[in-house]
Amino acid sequence: MKAVALTRYLPIDDPGSLFDTELSPPENPGEHDLLIRVEAVSVNPVDTKIRAPKPQEEPVPRVLGYDAAGTVEAVGNRVTLFQPGDKVYYAGDITRPGSNAEYQLVDERIVGRKPETLDFAQAAALPLTAITAWELLFTRMPYRFEQGWRSQHLLIIGAAGGVGSIAIQLARLAGFTVIATASRPQTVEWVKSLGAHHVINHRQPLAAQLKALDIEHVQAVINLADTDAYWSVIGDIIAPEGHVGLIVEPRTPLHIGDPYKAKCIGIHWEFMFARPRFRTADMIEQHHLLNRAAELVDAGKLRTTLREILGPINAANLREAHRCLETGSVIGKLVLAGWP
Ligand SMILES: NC(=O)c1ccc[n+]([C@@H]2O[C@H](COP(=O)([O-])OP(=O)(O)OC[C@H]3O[C@@H](n4cnc5c(N)ncnc54)[C@H](OP(=O)(O)O)[C@@H]3O)[C@@H](O)[C@H]2O)c1
Repeated sequence: MKAVALTRYLPIDDPGSLFDTELSPPENPGEHDLLIRVEAVSVNPVDTKIRAPKPQEEPVPRVLGYDAAGTVEAVGNRVTLFQPGDKVYYAGDITRPGSNAEYQLVDERIVGRKPETLDFAQAAALPLTAITAWELLFTRMPYRFEQGWRSQHLLIIGAAGGVGSIAIQLARLAGFTVIATASRPQTVEWVKSLGAHHVINHRQPLAAQLKALDIEHVQAVINLADTDAYWSVIGDIIAPEGHVGLIVEPRTPLHIGDPYKAKCIGIHWEFMFARPRFRTADMIEQHHLLNRAAELVDAGKLRTTLREILGPINAANLREAHRCLETGSVIGKLVLAGWP
């Protein structure tokens, strides 16, 4: 089968950083595995973080890729949720070979049915970021999607990227008053189009901009960007008994005492690979939430965050996607669709 792989961890402008190759299709499916023919993939910062240069070599080509849509070809002997021919979308498991290959094995419990109203490319944009945003807001933080959080202000830092683009929509559906941060005219426009009630600029002081909106404190913050850079200001603008959601590993130890302690702030981590990685008893929740997101899409309540299709799935297009993501300026999601 066709695949894009690496054996060395090189800068992205090195053509050897990701190369086209032929691999044997995966064998020996686990009892809950689906064998999926990959039709489209999207690319996330996690791909670039794993691929980042380091003095290490893989003895066999390693396939990355943690967002895909495709068709179920075969199923393991205890699979109950899907059958061959089903169209699916999923993020997968960081501990297994990824989606940048024509065929991939994925545990059925972390796979959802593809939204019917989206094509494979539009669907591939969604799973990793939808899982992240949903688990952060509605599993780790104390909010529940159905309850209606109208009196609560939610600040989303770094809202125009992949995670923010779906988080804005989900938070808005859940009833929050959404304040998104964006720093360029095109990202301001994008976050407004996704439903942000207010937009402020993360390159300018946040507290002053909130005050100008007549907002003294926000009840919830999700920081989808540099954790260290915003830690101090979040402590200032978060309301007493508020909640802060984090998804980016800090570079330095965080001071979790005052003002966080004085205000009794809840601090919540999300890592969307935790459930598959540790095979938690509730890993099937990712299947349920992807199906829920598909229902919202098909009901016209949630839209794809696909912004650009870079072409078919090959090494040159994947290197271009990694290069763009490494600039930190991608809007929505980049997708590769079809095989050359
Ligand atoms: N823990 C998890 O489960 C999990 C899951 C997914 C992602 N992540 C991590 O979360 C981060 C965001 O992921 P993503 O996919 O949303 O990234 P992304 O798509 O690359 O985000 C790009 C956007 O971030 C904004 N941005 C860049 N620098 C910023 C800064 N200093 N402050 C605020 N915003 C900034 C930019 O908006 P402007 O142009 O408007 O500045 C840009 O449009 C990554 O580090 C990723 O690895 C973690």
